[in-house]
Amino acid sequence: MGKDKYRRFQENLTFANMVQPDFEEVFGKEYRLKGHWHDEFFRNPNPIILELGCGRGEYTVALAERNPDRNYIGIDIKGARMWRGAKTATERGMANAAFLRTRIEFINSFFASGEVDEIWITFPDPQLKKQRVKKRLTSPQFLGYYAKFLKPEGVVHLKTDSRHLHEYTKAVIERNALPLLACGDDIYGTGMADTDLSIQTAYERKFREQGLPITYLRFMLGGRSEFEAPDFEEDDNLDASRLGE
Ligand SMILES: C[S@@+](CC[C@H](N)C(=O)[O-])C[C@H]1O[C@@H](n2cnc3c(N)ncnc32)[C@H](O)[C@@H]1O
Repeated sequence: MGKDKYRRFQENLTFANMVQPDFEEVFGKEYRLKGHWHDEFFRNPNPIILELGCGRGEYTVALAERNPDRNYIGIDIKGARMWRGAKTATERGMANAAFLRTRIEFINSFFASGEVDEIWITFPDPQLKKQRVKKRLTSPQFLGYYAKFLKPEGVVHLKTDSRHLHEYTKAVIERNALPLLACGDDIYGTGMADTDLSIQTAYERKFREQGLPITYLRFMLGGRSEFEAPDFEEDDNLDASRLGE
């Protein structure tokens, strides 16, 4: 492990806003904070919003700054990346931004039914290859995980440069007749990005410099607990520049 990464891992241990459970505390188990994020962690009844695959936590920190009466938890498996967000939130004395280091596949060990109000999925790995379809964070399997803890009126936001993931997610929404609240194929210049959507991570800036349109979907899970796979025609050309990933 590089010196810088080691230093970040060590500093992560000192942050009150960083939750890093051991594998044994999570695998096949309910983590101690499940159902208790309001009373034992944030110590307020404010809504809880998750950012899945938060990377350096830029979105989590920016959303938390804009909305001090809401609690945000950025989730990622990469501790050295989340260090950036946890450090910024610590330095700014933000009590409504937290970071959880885990694989999203374990998310049902962390949140109880109705505990979460909203989910943001920002620039996730698009998992373009057909054999990796189940790894897409908007696949029927992942939506099934989210349905276990998202409030019935809760919404999911997907912001991505991947046209392929955008179209795939639209197909999942349509197949399962989920309420679609907003859909943008190219959010800038439409007025859509004048809200929380205007926050930009380093990934987003990089994609915009490459001239890629940024897409957005906002939808609900429609009271469903299980989701069917769409009959989606995988089209490699939609993301031709990213096929090496
Ligand atoms: C392309 S980056 C985007 C980061 C951030 N959302 C942004 O816009 O800057 C995707 C992030 O998702 C995380 N990730 C991907 N799959 C994951 C999983 N199954 N569990 C936890 N984190 C995951 C990666 O570690 C990475 O930091």
